[in-house]
Amino acid sequence: MLAVHEDRLAAAVERLGSENAFEILARARELEAQGRRVVHMEIGEPDFDTPADIKKAAVDALYDNQTHYTPSSGILSLRSTIAEYASRFRHVTPEWGPENVVIGPGAKPIIWNTLSALLNPGDEFVYFDPAYPAYASCASYHQAKVHAIPLLESRNWRMDLDELERRLSEKTKVVVINSPHNPTGGVLTHADLERIAELAQRFDFLVLADEIYSRNFYLNEEYLSIASLPGMRERTIVVDGFSKAYAMTGWRLGYAILPAQLARTVTLFNNNTFSCVATFVQMAGIAALTGSDEPVLRMNEIFRQRRDRLVNGLNEIPGISCLLPEGAFYAFPNVSSITQDDRALAKFLLEEGGVACGGGSSFGAAGKGYLRFSYAASLEDIDWALESIAKHLPHFKA
Ligand SMILES: Cc1ncc(COP(=O)(O)O)c(C=O)c1O
Repeated sequence: MLAVHEDRLAAAVERLGSENAFEILARARELEAQGRRVVHMEIGEPDFDTPADIKKAAVDALYDNQTHYTPSSGILSLRSTIAEYASRFRHVTPEWGPENVVIGPGAKPIIWNTLSALLNPGDEFVYFDPAYPAYASCASYHQAKVHAIPLLESRNWRMDLDELERRLSEKTKVVVINSPHNPTGGVLTHADLERIAELAQRFDFLVLADEIYSRNFYLNEEYLSIASLPGMRERTIVVDGFSKAYAMTGWRLGYAILPAQLARTVTLFNNNTFSCVATFVQMAGIAALTGSDEPVLRMNEIFRQRRDRLVNGLNEIPGISCLLPEGAFYAFPNVSSITQDDRALAKFLLEEGGVACGGGSSFGAAGKGYLRFSYAASLEDIDWALESIAKHLPHFKA
């Protein structure tokens, strides 16, 4: 039998990143198996059950024998439903059609396939730091030249746009934005989006707008997508999905909305990788978008209460300061006066305090000195976690 020693692996494997949250989750589960109480604030998934009508649609589809392959871009009726929903929600004109939508098993593989359809070695690729790890992992794999623009706590975790402008050139192919933002909960302002749109047109790049948290939004204003700004429909790739808004992380259902020609190429990547998404899961997606919006709004209201409780509580603990996130379900407190080794602190809080959270530097160098808490935990668990942090923190040796 052929042994797979490390030297047989493709060199490109070295350039892959990964999501550290899954490793913390594994350790947290080990501690639980030993009988320890752990509050899970490490992983980015709503703790709510998927709404009943969505589950029923999937079960009905199963009993209706919708268990066969679908087109690689997704079922036409789901693509039409998404195009209609997304055009209405984002006020995009002319409206998107099904030819603009590509379905995948989660937004993550769709990000991979979209960037794979676009990036040549040496292409300039711009994103931000700290960030969800998938963008840079894929761009590095394809040997793009990767630029990370720091997000600034002083700008409520928004990009330094002067720095963005300095890093652009005629070789810039794709700029990623993510608002609301993982891991900080920051939201780009209208002025920010207008400036990025102006730069996109001046430097002729595509914007990959990861809007997966567009329904986890706490400002008293309508969500603004860069795709709705003049001239941007044709140069924006909107990434969205069902994981966060509908508590459907384990179903694996996401999508991109993009110019039709690019959609065909991304579909080719789908065809070559997973072929299609499970048929009954796609049917559940139609139910999510055409059914009542009440569960989404209810979950969001609960997230808002948890956010307030967590952020207020963190700010009462000596040495920790935390901005109020405007979207997503993450808080990103500054712990730099306690330590620069955020990962060691996260490990300590899990091992000693039973609080699972992430070290900010797992999301990039600019996350050093911060922690990420996902407030997808009950108010009772949040209170317990806050007490535990306050109790154990003085014993942390930096
Ligand atoms: C910013 C961002 N984009 C995309 C995803 C991918 O979500 P999924 O693959 O579950 O649709 C996540 C998940 O954590 C995320 O935080």
